[in-house]
Parts: sequence; C-alpha cells; structure tokens
Amino acid sequence: MTKIAVLVSGGGTNLQALIDAWKKGSLENGELSLVVSSVAGAFALERAQKAGIKTITIERKNYKKAEEFDKVLTSVLSEHQINLVVLAGFLSVVGPQTVKTFKNKIINVHPSLIPSFCGKGFYGTHVHKAALEYGVKITGATVHYVNDVIDGGQIILQKAVDVLVSDTPETLQQRVMQEAEWVLLPQAVAMICK
Ligand code: GAR
Repeated sequence: MTKIAVLVSGGGTNLQALIDAWKKGSLENGELSLVVSSVAGAFALERAQKAGIKTITIERKNYKKAEEFDKVLTSVLSEHQINLVVLAGFLSVVGPQTVKTFKNKIINVHPSLIPSFCGKGFYGTHVHKAALEYGVKITGATVHYVNDVIDGGQIILQKAVDVLVSDTPETLQQRVMQEAEWVLLPQAVAMICK
C-alpha cells in the first residue's frame, strides 16, 4: 500500500481528479491518506472531508520563517508514514528538509510545458497570462518530481493543449486543467504506485 498525502492551497480540482480515480480503483495500490492545506478554509478541504480523507491545515502565513513551516510539514508527513507526496495546486514552497526527507517521493503538477513558463512567480493564472503574452500557440501541463529547484525536478509526464485566439488566462487555465492536469496527475500517481 502506498500512503499518499495531497498538498493543496485552493479549489482542489486536481485533488478531486485524484479522489475520482481512487474511488474508481485506478490508483493501483495507492491510498489517499491525508490532505494538507497551507490555506485555512480552502475548498479542497471540503472535497477531502466529503471523500472521508483526513485533513490537516498548516497555515503558511502563521510561520514567519520558511524553515519553521518546512519543519512542521516534514513532521506531519513523517508522523502519517506517507510514502508519496503530491503537490496539487500547493502554492507554498516545499522546503529543503521536506525535499530531503521525501527524496524522489514528491511530485508536482505545473500548468505549462516545462521548461517554459515555470520557476519563481509562475503559479496559477500568472502562468497562463505569461503564455498568452508571449504568444505561444501550444501550452500544456507537466507532472514532475520535486527537488530543490522550483519546477526543476525530473519530468514524469507532459501533455500539450492548443491555445485559442480567443483565450483569456482564465479560459486557458480551465482548458489546461480539463485536458491535461486532471488526466496526467492520476496517471502519474498510478504509475508511481505500480
Ligand atoms: C492548477 O492549475 C495547478 O497546476 C496550479 O494551480 C492550480 C490549482 O488548481 N499549480 C501551480 O501553478 C503550481 N506552480 P486546483 O486547486 O483546482 O487543483
């Protein structure tokens, strides 16, 4: 059994894709054991509770130092004997202690084709705004391992999505999630669990 923790900060549609895959039996021997939110009241927490998954909130804004947040995150994940950590719209940086303790056991979904539009400051709709401003005709999503470089770990899966002339950052975000992120993330988790 692979005990999975999903880290979230917002709406949790990627978490929902994982829950749906799990309920359908598509996560191989993976079990969604824990959802950790860095934001209190995130809608993702409601999704987790509805699916019967334990939730913990570690509010990033309550920690002055990134190291303190990193330490608490490591202990919570260790206490729950987590084998795979999935960043699904987790908008806080995962610190070096967590990365070291869970080496090659943390994955992230990013809403672009890495190495384009990634790294510091590229999150949520900022990514899609940058893609539209650059004028790319194809974008997409990437699932990758997490190391000490933001969005710099080994790529696991990628999927391309067309950019339409009529796109806004919001419409593009929605299509990238629907066509790529919600497909790739459960697929990557299943592959790793297998
Ligand atoms: C998703 O598009 C995810 O790729 C992005 O935030 C959104 C969260 O949506 N993550 C990043 O930008 C990380 N760099 P969700 O809460 O509905 O899953």
